Amino acid sequence: MSDIKPPSGIGWTALLTAYCRSVESERPDRLFSDPLGAVFASGATETSTPDAERPRLGPANGDHTTGMWHFYCTYIAMRTPFYDQRLTHAVASGCRQVVLLAAGLDSRAYRLDLPDDTTVFELDQDAVLDYKQRVLDREQAQASCRRVPIAVDLREEWTGPLLAAGFDPKKATVWIVEGLLMYLSDSDCSQLSKTVGSLSAPGSRLVTEYYSRQPRVEDMRSGSKDEQEQASWALAMEQFDTGPTSSPATWLADHRWELTGLTHVAAETHRWNRPLPAELDQSDIVLWLLEGEFKAT
Ligand SMILES: C[S@@+](CC[C@H](N)C(=O)[O-])C[C@H]1O[C@@H](n2cnc3c(N)ncnc32)[C@H](O)[C@@H]1O
Repeated sequence: MSDIKPPSGIGWTALLTAYCRSVESERPDRLFSDPLGAVFASGATETSTPDAERPRLGPANGDHTTGMWHFYCTYIAMRTPFYDQRLTHAVASGCRQVVLLAAGLDSRAYRLDLPDDTTVFELDQDAVLDYKQRVLDREQAQASCRRVPIAVDLREEWTGPLLAAGFDPKKATVWIVEGLLMYLSDSDCSQLSKTVGSLSAPGSRLVTEYYSRQPRVEDMRSGSKDEQEQASWALAMEQFDTGPTSSPATWLADHRWELTGLTHVAAETHRWNRPLPAELDQSDIVLWLLEGEFKAT
């Protein structure tokens, strides 16, 4: 593993989410199991000493029930089943084309037992996809379906590489945009939604999430004196942009998507009867989880 460099900057957030999925996978009451999460996260721990670019993954004391790690792990644990359920429902209804925009270290092509005639296109930046591929190759991981990684910058033109890789815009698609919009500006989000719409056959679905306002450093309500935790929070906050600035229904409707599912991370935390992190217990900030269906004109 020593020659496999883990990603940094915005790419480090993919390691963070993989780590959180590995924590959930260890719980006796887990909502999902993601064995590759631990493999991806441990690769980073083995090969780099924590620093400001790649802060430590996990709390110093190993106790995920306190502070910032409780927030991160709850957030990821709550959003993952939202996406999983919508994706598996669409596939059960016959959809065989899935696009993960900002796939990161997502392992749905491995863990969801998708039919072998399903194609999962995974778009992310080169540094993340390269790290992912090296780890998958080392592990000799076998996807249950066809997986097609495509290195792109999602703020630039990416339809050419997707079409060249075999994406068929005449087929209904499930678009999974997990953990991305908050890192983009309102206009980049609008452009992304427009592009996704231009590639979507009627019946396609878009599943995504965003914050009702841009998170700030002071939103870490649980506080932490741990330098690595502070570095981790600061790094995450540095990556944030506004995301979409209108309500989920309006934002979707702007590009011919009709809202078909809406909840938020705090509501899911209550629904699963888990303790609510202080960061999610703030009335002025909502972490929306939403699904839209593409409508023909
Ligand atoms: C928080 S991670 C989420 C990854 C994955 N969806 C998950 O939930 O585990 C954010 C991901 O967005 C990717 N990303 C952010 N901005 C991007 C851009 N402009 N182009 C391509 N990928 C981008 C990062 O590389 C990173 O893998």
